[in-house]
Amino acid sequence: MKDKIAIGCDHAGFVLKTALIEYLKNNEYEVIDLGTNSEEEQVDYPDYAKLVGKEVGNGNAKYGILICGTGIGISISANRMPKIRAALCYETKLATLAREHNDANILVLGGRIIAPQKAIWILEEFLNTKFSNRHQQRVEKIELGDIKNV
Ligand code: RB5
Repeated sequence: MKDKIAIGCDHAGFVLKTALIEYLKNNEYEVIDLGTNSEEEQVDYPDYAKLVGKEVGNGNAKYGILICGTGIGISISANRMPKIRAALCYETKLATLAREHNDANILVLGGRIIAPQKAIWILEEFLNTKFSNRHQQRVEKIELGDIKNV
């Protein structure tokens, strides 16, 4: 079994979540599916950002995946949580750089913006790219610096 991945979405991300879970399971990742489980029932994306952010922040999951319609609302929500660095990626290059430069621990996708196959390529890139330590000081400043006390 590979890394544990927590995944969550709102109703607008449900179809893409289903495709990504299938990909993850076929590739032997352990998946924690935190919902939502239908595209019919309208739900609020911050609730799912919170569920996934908690699993990643407490170390139970190595990475998280969050999906809403655009990816914007759910990434804004997740980035308010401690230890979370959520990156909205719509190109594979962004996933590479989000891991390499920002040590992003949650990949965010827009379920109404990108096609499932492209989302899988982005996810592969995210999962297979390591953080480059030369960016450590910058990443530490996100959490520890006085940026939170302005
Ligand atoms: C839900 O309709 C939609 O607003 C949400 O999925 C997301 O796109 C918000 O940023």
